[in-house]
Amino acid sequence: MIIALDGPAGAGKSTVARAVADRLNLTFLDTGAMYRGLTLAALQRGLDPLDEAACVQLANELELSFGEDGLVRIDGQAGEPDIRSATVTLTVSTVSAYRGVRDAVVSKQREIGLSVPGLVVEGRDTTTVVFPEAEYKFFLVASPTERARRRAAQEDREDEVDMILRDIERRDQLDTTRAHAPLRQAEDAILIDTDSRNIDSVVEEILACVGEPGATGSSDEASAGV
Ligand code: DC
Repeated sequence: MIIALDGPAGAGKSTVARAVADRLNLTFLDTGAMYRGLTLAALQRGLDPLDEAACVQLANELELSFGEDGLVRIDGQAGEPDIRSATVTLTVSTVSAYRGVRDAVVSKQREIGLSVPGLVVEGRDTTTVVFPEAEYKFFLVASPTERARRRAAQEDREDEVDMILRDIERRDQLDTTRAHAPLRQAEDAILIDTDSRNIDSVVEEILACVGEPGATGSSDEASAGV
């Protein structure tokens, strides 16, 4: 079974997807972490993010996997927390827009999907391109101001809300207008506006759609072995 969630930065996808995976004892896959991992590796190697050919070559060579803890590994090395740095956040939309990069990363994501019995996956194109056949699809949205406020609270940067808002708007623009696999709602995805909603109620709504609201499971197993 595949449950796929897409939406813009800060709409709550990661938190919600992780919680749904825990509740249903399914594997959780954060596709953004893979693009961030690739971007971090490119920066560490001194590649120019505007050099498409170099980025595509790296995407084909790099080993992006997930550890037992469910966190991304880049050629076997832990990607967190560096993949969340301001520099990576600033650069990731450029690197992830290249077609060759997307082809390489999407094929790794499909391999992961095939290797597990059930998956909760989140990103920008998981409902439209990576797993268009997913049984359950959701599109999470929230206003840019609310998304910036949440990010600031999550990262303990309450005094930088304006800067975070500008970054969110910049990434929305890049992610929705790129030529390959732009962020958009799949026709058969259920729209969930998470503004003024708490995470638990969104998780319950998704579980109700999936039809297993009573399912339980351990988070240890859920994120392991990807
Ligand atoms: O979800 P995130 O903010 O960690 O994602 C970082 C960037 O990666 C995002 O700005 C666009 C890109 N991305 C993508 O192009 N496709 C995905 N499926 C997931 C993320």
